Amino acid sequence: MRDAYIVQAVRTPGCRRGKGAFAQTRPEDLLVTALQGLMERAKVDKKVVEDVMVGCAFPEAEQGLNVGRIAALMAGFPIDTCGATVNRFCSSGLEAIAIQAMRIQAGWADVAIGGGLESMSIVPMGGNMPRPHPYWAKQKPDVYISMGITAENVANRYKITRQQQDEFGYHSQMKAAEAQKNKMFDEIVPTKAVKYVPQPDGTLKKEEFIQDFDDGVRPDTTLEGLAKLKPAFAAFGSVTAGNSSQTTDGAAAALIMSEEACRKYGVKPLVKIVAYTVAGVEPDEMGVGPAYAIPKLLKMTGKDMKDIGLFEINEAFASQAIYCAQQLGIADPKEWTVDSKTRRINVNGGAIALGHPLGCTGAKLAAQLVNMMVKKGVKYGVESMCIGGGMGAAALFELVEKW
Ligand SMILES: CC(C)(COP(=O)(O)OP(=O)(O)OC[C@H]1O[C@@H](n2cnc3c(N)ncnc32)[C@H](O)[C@@H]1OP(=O)(O)O)[C@@H](O)C(=O)NCCC(=O)NCCS
Repeated sequence: MRDAYIVQAVRTPGCRRGKGAFAQTRPEDLLVTALQGLMERAKVDKKVVEDVMVGCAFPEAEQGLNVGRIAALMAGFPIDTCGATVNRFCSSGLEAIAIQAMRIQAGWADVAIGGGLESMSIVPMGGNMPRPHPYWAKQKPDVYISMGITAENVANRYKITRQQQDEFGYHSQMKAAEAQKNKMFDEIVPTKAVKYVPQPDGTLKKEEFIQDFDDGVRPDTTLEGLAKLKPAFAAFGSVTAGNSSQTTDGAAAALIMSEEACRKYGVKPLVKIVAYTVAGVEPDEMGVGPAYAIPKLLKMTGKDMKDIGLFEINEAFASQAIYCAQQLGIADPKEWTVDSKTRRINVNGGAIALGHPLGCTGAKLAAQLVNMMVKKGVKYGVESMCIGGGMGAAALFELVEKW
């Protein structure tokens, strides 16, 4: 089997659903920015890319109709660069990267893009017209329940307190604020956005602007402020807007090549994509997914938790992130708090502060992880997330040191 390498990985900023910078920008345009930014940074000609595969959790309406193909053409790829859209909910973007990596490993492709996209402002979570199967909705309603309720279930079953969740949310915000201040998010491509501004005569004027930072970060977050927030999903619950992932708009993309292609086009790869796996869990506690997917990944690859220098574990909710960290033996505060210099988990904050644009997240976290592995010279990085319907996904990346 051949090796597959990420030679470049970028993302747009993540911006708040409805209230943020991308609320009125079409999803295809976000993806076009990511794809163009990717190719400019990689300094590779678009015509050598064989396929663009994009993860999207609700691939319908403005982000439907095989947005992977449409956005690739809009971004200036030639007609013979193909395009596809894949869906595994919150790991869709990582799934797209993994599928492209496997095609390269199998010798079926040499240069391909895996990415992700979601405009939660324009296509709501659940889609515009959900239609649960009437029989199955009675047999197994858990596959259709709100993700927030699954987070409450994890908190209740595994005794993750409100205070623990708020502390985790606080540190996510503080890490992200620190990272923004220190300009750590090199993987961000400044992104063209639009807004429609009401005019005195009743018309709307289209204004264009550039957005280059994640706009959900709240540097003024306090534990006292978080403690005052009302539960968002259950009357007497513990999951709030301050300890849940934010709903977000964004796009991300990674350029993946075989060793032969890297040498042919004179590109030094950043990381090797070592392995990817998924693990099934009960849908009503889908957040436990990483606690199963990461050990499965490590077993497959003969690695140990202590071999891993950086983790990006998606913070769908603090309750599930804490539970997974506990199960994985990395719940000690030194692994994840802002004041720990040896932290390994979500070192620049996670989805509670930076947002979780569903189908984009897998590719977004890959871009963040690769950037930090390169910056810090970390040999092994693991990306993982829980997935609606009851799954976990995990991938292992290895830094390319010598080339
Ligand atoms: C929890 C949730 C319902 C909250 O939605 P929302 O009300 O639109 O959330 P917002 O981020 O706008 O926050 C609402 C309010 O909470 C308060 N708040 C949020 N974060 C805060 C913080 N860190 N400190 C203090 N107050 C905070 C603010 O008052 C905020 O209002 P403002 O933006 O006008 O200041 C939504 O984020 C959600 O559904 N998250 C989970 C998404 C999901 O399920 N994803 C899939 C996972 S598998």
